[in-house]
Amino acid sequence: MNITAVIPAAGSGERFGGKKQLKNLNGRPLLHHTLQPFIRLGLINEIVVVVAKGDVDQVNRELRSMISAKPVKVVAGGKSRQVSVHNGLTAADDSSELICVHDAVRPFVSEDLIEKAANACSEHDGVIVAQSSTDTIKRIMEDQILETIPRETIWRAQTPQVFSKAALQEALELAEAENIQGTDEASLLERIGYQVGFVEGSSLNIKITTEEDWVFAEAIYKQLN
Ligand code: CTP
Ligand code: MG
Repeated sequence: MNITAVIPAAGSGERFGGKKQLKNLNGRPLLHHTLQPFIRLGLINEIVVVVAKGDVDQVNRELRSMISAKPVKVVAGGKSRQVSVHNGLTAADDSSELICVHDAVRPFVSEDLIEKAANACSEHDGVIVAQSSTDTIKRIMEDQILETIPRETIWRAQTPQVFSKAALQEALELAEAENIQGTDEASLLERIGYQVGFVEGSSLNIKITTEEDWVFAEAIYKQLN
């Protein structure tokens, strides 16, 4: 199975206060750290990095200087993550059958985790990486707790998320036609009846969202290197 990794990196980082994906961690842009396991893993045939329109040339130049034995394309993203992922999918080679979507801002994904998710795809239309919740989850409206949701049924979705390319394309096109924005790609497949499985993730595979997360990123980097 030919696999294209699509790395959405076109966000503006409003909650962080800047483009966190381009901020240096130990002297290199976060995006470069995220790409490493995808470059190394033989299972991945090509990589499509989706960045803001104005960053395409610069990121292209930088990535060309990174040694890569596989094609790396840099394309422009859109207003929402969903549009960015769609642009990435459109740029994927015709021969690719699976699309592995991974947030540029999850720099500690391992080759093992990518491989585990991709391999599980043979039994599903898509597979996500998820972790069971260790916090107790409440449903709250205004200042009232409405209910406590049984924790055993609550999982937190991460990326990578791997999908059959045809199924992901259909899910994205239908969502756009119906003006639906999902917070991840899996939800767009689920809503039209595709069967999405999961594999267990890692708590090191954090998503850098706010400035506080950078503290964790530096600590995890030190621990792993
Ligand atoms: N992303 C993207 N295109 C967008 C919005 C987001 O490719 N239009 C990417 C981000 O660059 C990031 C991933 O999707 O790698 C997850 O998004 P998030 O953490 O929400 O990043 P931002 O959208 O940049 O942050 P914020 O929502 O705080 O503005
Ligand atoms: Mg966002």
